[in-house]
Amino acid sequence: MKMNAKSIALSAVIAASFMAAGAMASDKTEPRNEVYKDKFSNQYNSWHATAESEEVVDMLEQVPSLVVLWAGYGFAKDYNAPRGHMYAVTDVTNTLRTGAPKNAEDGPMPMACWSCKSPDVPRVIEEQGEDGYFTGKWAKGGPEIVNALGCSDCHVKGSPKLRMSRPFAERAMTTLNNPFDKASRQDKQSMVCAQCHVEYYFEKTEDRKGFVKFPWDMGTTVEQMEAYYDSMEFSDWTHAVSKTPMLKAQHPGYETWQLGVHGQNNVSCVDCHMPKVTNDKGRKYTDHKVGNPFDRFEETCATCHTQSKEFLVDLTHKRKAKVQELKARAEAQLVKAHFEAKAAWDAGATEAEMKPILMDIRHSQWRWDYATASHGVTAHAPDEALRILGTSVDKAADARVKLAQLLATKGVKQPIAYPDTSTKAKAQAALGMDMKTMNAEKAEFKKTLVPQWKEEAKKREATY
Ligand code: HEC
Ligand code: HEC
Ligand code: HEC
Ligand code: HEC
Repeated sequence: MKMNAKSIALSAVIAASFMAAGAMASDKTEPRNEVYKDKFSNQYNSWHATAESEEVVDMLEQVPSLVVLWAGYGFAKDYNAPRGHMYAVTDVTNTLRTGAPKNAEDGPMPMACWSCKSPDVPRVIEEQGEDGYFTGKWAKGGPEIVNALGCSDCHVKGSPKLRMSRPFAERAMTTLNNPFDKASRQDKQSMVCAQCHVEYYFEKTEDRKGFVKFPWDMGTTVEQMEAYYDSMEFSDWTHAVSKTPMLKAQHPGYETWQLGVHGQNNVSCVDCHMPKVTNDKGRKYTDHKVGNPFDRFEETCATCHTQSKEFLVDLTHKRKAKVQELKARAEAQLVKAHFEAKAAWDAGATEAEMKPILMDIRHSQWRWDYATASHGVTAHAPDEALRILGTSVDKAADARVKLAQLLATKGVKQPIAYPDTSTKAKAQAALGMDMKTMNAEKAEFKKTLVPQWKEEAKKREATY
């Protein structure tokens, strides 16, 4: 049989590259992205380019109300907007939320905080089981979870085949009656993202303490997840000002995308965020620079739409502005509700009097958070975001009407005096947060423990 030289060479390269990895001792997770640098150079280089999205946007500076809304929880210390996948491990290490542990047993956060950051997570789960992985403090994982979010988070070892690398994500898809192995190619393209861009929580039962679970048993809408959390009387933390048992939404991007027009039409995450592109040799490949779809308009939106880039960007921005307007209204109401609840406690309100009020605050803030923490929702499902935020404002209003009545019966003069929370620094000071000490301890942690982690990881990987 006669083949042209070029095609023989190409198929040989492809076969060799798959076999080289596939024929190795095992199909255990390969956490090191660099291994694929030459074999899959287009995918590797475009993946590496997520490092170009390096800007750090301090959301607490931008929206100081967040400090009040998250009072008593880690997010009030520090919260930045998401950036490129390459930074996932760096950013979770640097944030004040993970504190300044002095050794592997030191708090404040559990191992689960690494779960969406790195292909070392499935590696450790394979080695130690979920029991082993989820046991212990976050600092225990420091020398283990070191490689940037990459190939083996989404792929079977050394292969273009997609996989779910997290068993808890795989179980959640089965809960939705769409197990990954039986799913269509299009569904799989969104499911790989849904390993991380979803709502999740850390379980509290004795036998599964600290395990990651997606709260999808009753469904994935904001109301269904709220009902699920309420049914177990679950709370992430108790609010430091109002004493409300709070829920922290993570980033239900997959859930909200499903409700938007693209999700409804099964336009996958990959259609917009990882389009097929052509390299300078005319070969097609998947662009792995996950970022803003408008940066590659011709290969994303324009494959299905005839409108101009300017038109669609402008439309998307206008929708974002509308969502942000309602979001700001919900935030303003909630800040007041938290301080009014404190005033009621201070005036001697009873648990029984406060209970319905705290439920309203809980539900209002959960809904606000669900709508805003599902990053990209203003592009994915702006109508759903507006609907949810509308119910958030409504529930905050319910709380504040009840609070006004209660404060009146306690003889408290209204409006109460709200502290100045107009900047991040003022809000943190109003809550009595000692940022100076926290920052100094974090700096010490970065100077001492982090270099040790890197040393240990280097030694371990040298044995691979
Ligand atoms: C966030 C998930 C994700 C990560 C991380 C990821 N990939 Fe992919 N990869 C995909 C998706 C999605 C496709 C397209 C699958 C499809 O077309 O159905 C793909 C396709 C591929 C393909 C098939 C050829 C092509 O370009 O379509 C190769 C090879 C590949 N990836 C290699 C890599 C390598 C190497 C890395 C690490 C440097 C990597 N991938 C990281 C999700 C990922
Ligand atoms: C293993 C977990 C994980 C997977 C899988 C994953 N992501 Fe992410 N993604 C993250 C984390 C964590 C961040 C934030 C990183 C940071 O800010 O340090 C992020 C950030 C992003 C951003 C913001 C990028 C920027 O430059 O601002 C987008 C967009 C995104 N992801 C889309 C996707 C899409 C689409 C998929 C599937 C193809 C996907 N992600 C798969 C965890 C994941
Ligand atoms: C129809 C196209 C489209 C689909 C499908 C889509 N996205 Fe997006 N996504 C966008 C656009 C447009 C933006 C906003 C870009 C901007 O800020 O201008 C965005 C923003 C995001 C962001 C926020 C990035 C940031 O820095 O704030 C994340 C995260 C994200 N998308 C993840 C996903 C995930 C996960 C899926 C699938 C479950 C998905 N997207 C499906 C078009 C899409
Ligand atoms: C794979 C095909 C595909 C891609 C890629 C795609 N869309 Fe769509 N889009 C659709 C479909 C299908 C509909 C629904 C059309 C209908 O109902 O007539 C739609 C509807 C829309 C609508 C009108 C519905 C609404 O009110 O939201 C807008 C606006 C839109 N898309 C924007 C975008 C933008 C911006 C991008 C790129 C970031 C994009 N689309 C990428 C397929 C796509």
